[in-house]
Amino acid sequence: MKFKTICFDKGKIKLLDQNALPLKLKYIICRNKNCIFKAIKEMNVRGAPLIGVVAAFGVALSAVKIKNKNKKVFLKKIYSSINFLSGSRPTAINLFWALERMRKILDKEKEKPVFYIKKCLLCEAKKILKEDELACRNLSIKGSSLIKNGDSILVHCNAGALATAGMGTALGVIYYAKSRGKKLKIYADETRPKLQGSRLTCWELQREGLNPILICDSVAATLMKKKKIGKILVGADRIALNGDIANKIGTYHLAVLAHQHKIPFYVAAPVSTIDFDINSGSQIPIEERNEDEVINFGNNRVAPRGIKVYNPVFDVTPAKFVSAIITEKGIIRPPFGNKLKKLKQR
Ligand code: MRU
Repeated sequence: MKFKTICFDKGKIKLLDQNALPLKLKYIICRNKNCIFKAIKEMNVRGAPLIGVVAAFGVALSAVKIKNKNKKVFLKKIYSSINFLSGSRPTAINLFWALERMRKILDKEKEKPVFYIKKCLLCEAKKILKEDELACRNLSIKGSSLIKNGDSILVHCNAGALATAGMGTALGVIYYAKSRGKKLKIYADETRPKLQGSRLTCWELQREGLNPILICDSVAATLMKKKKIGKILVGADRIALNGDIANKIGTYHLAVLAHQHKIPFYVAAPVSTIDFDINSGSQIPIEERNEDEVINFGNNRVAPRGIKVYNPVFDVTPAKFVSAIITEKGIIRPPFGNKLKKLKQR
């Protein structure tokens, strides 16, 4: 990709500020865990895989910053950083998965000298980043087998390079298919309320030479009825073992529409997005965000004062509407049965 979403450099982390896009390409610099927490919570960085990677580096950064050589103090601070960062956003499992990996390093190495533990934590964060890059690439290659030359694809939110440390998930599949010479027409939902579709997906698709057509979220049904959509391709924030999918609000209604119009509905996500501890989507915590996102459009207020707002930012698509889940370990089709569970061992 022509940009990096995250860079770690000698005690600071550079993050591409996604709240500034598409108008400005700028980076924010984080030098401590509070800054990382804020960047995740306020969505300067967002997208399930990227949140995990950033949180892992947040832990490594906290470790680097501790000057106290007392092991007990050091360990206590790092465990508490892990707990602190896990409170930044609730839905994407990748956050908890990455923090758990960091916690395991701490558990395993806690008898070793402080300098060594610091090194191990940084190595693990780098490993998580590399693995994400590779998972994106491999799932993109696999997923592109589902894409035909001339396909017309609807995407929702941003499941692209901006949401990962690599080439993206749903958009990665599109990029790979394009690189194999397939001509594609992409429709991008604007994705209210935070407009990840128009601000981020359209921005990155344009940079990669695809010329998406931006639509208001409510246009999707009309396009499907007119047979203008051949496939729907989305990412995921958490996948339950039965194949239920949590993704950006509005994904569920696309899946229902796809079912009605007999259009394949594909979900692309790395295995790190599967929650191996839950059997159904009803167990997924759904984040609710501030009313400001709904009552304002850009800098303009678009609702009367005193209005009550309900702003859940993810929904759960039942497995019965999912045509396939594209992962780096293979394409999983329904009935999902035990197939997702088995990916843990592969
Ligand atoms: O609230 P966001 O922007 O973090 O939500 C992101 C999504 O819903 C993405 O579709 C999902 O994280 C997959 S990203 C590869």
